Amino acid sequence: VIGLYDSGFGGLTVLRRVRDALPDRDLHYFGDSGRAPYGGRDVHTILDFAEQAVEHLVGRGCRLVVVACNTVSCVALRHLQHRYAGPGSDVRVLGVTIPGAESAVRATRGHVGVLATARTVASHTYVTEIHKLDPSVRVTQLAAPLLAPIVEEGWEDTEIARLAVDRYLDALGPVDTLLLGCTHYPLLMDQFAGRGPTVVDPAPYLAERLVEWLERHPQFDPPGTGALSFSCSGDPERFARLGSRFLGAALPEVHLVAEVGGRLLPGDPDAAPVGQVVRGGR
Ligand code: DGL
Repeated sequence: VIGLYDSGFGGLTVLRRVRDALPDRDLHYFGDSGRAPYGGRDVHTILDFAEQAVEHLVGRGCRLVVVACNTVSCVALRHLQHRYAGPGSDVRVLGVTIPGAESAVRATRGHVGVLATARTVASHTYVTEIHKLDPSVRVTQLAAPLLAPIVEEGWEDTEIARLAVDRYLDALGPVDTLLLGCTHYPLLMDQFAGRGPTVVDPAPYLAERLVEWLERHPQFDPPGTGALSFSCSGDPERFARLGSRFLGAALPEVHLVAEVGGRLLPGDPDAAPVGQVVRGGR
């Protein structure tokens, strides 16, 4: 089973591409929707959430974890790789930033704009990765903190989304290529399209790279039956409802992973209780 992890359901844009590229693989997606958005959070909280998410996925039998979330990939990927995928480990953790940087460098004529969360921008990871590939490319970054919540709310086709995108593109200035540095932004593709810059969504290229990676490292995920399964913190019904639009199909049951005392609860919590709840013990 390949595990995919995102802060919410924006990463379903990545899951969709991975499923298309690898239709025989079993995929499990964990969206930390109860704690999203991550993009304005501090680094240590993101490291903590990311560790919990990887442990959840490894606990479900995933030997390969794909961090679909740009914010997590930009600040925590190295840490996750050291902690869970070091020498001797049978787990591997891959991220979205290098495929993102590569697709931007392939597309650009010299000036890349990166729209992303505040934490991704503050990390400078996209600038670093793009410059490793081609130091002559100019990179202008801008945090667009309103966009992920607009998508999480399912408002990507509304006037609010259009106004927010307009304003961020104006502030970004003239770039020839726009890298969508956040999982949620491909859902706003209709708003970004036709504005001048070539719009780059890293997800299709990430899926291509993953196919090649699995050819080289088949031991990390044997072909399965193409089964999809889902878990999330937060409200699973809302996750299924909003998520199905982006998957283009109804989601099967979404399994709740409750957060209690700052930790993700292993095992199956009871169905969400209604009304007053008294906890056992004192
Ligand atoms: N998934 C996050 C990312 O790709 C965006 C949403 C968030 O801030 O949690 O950066």
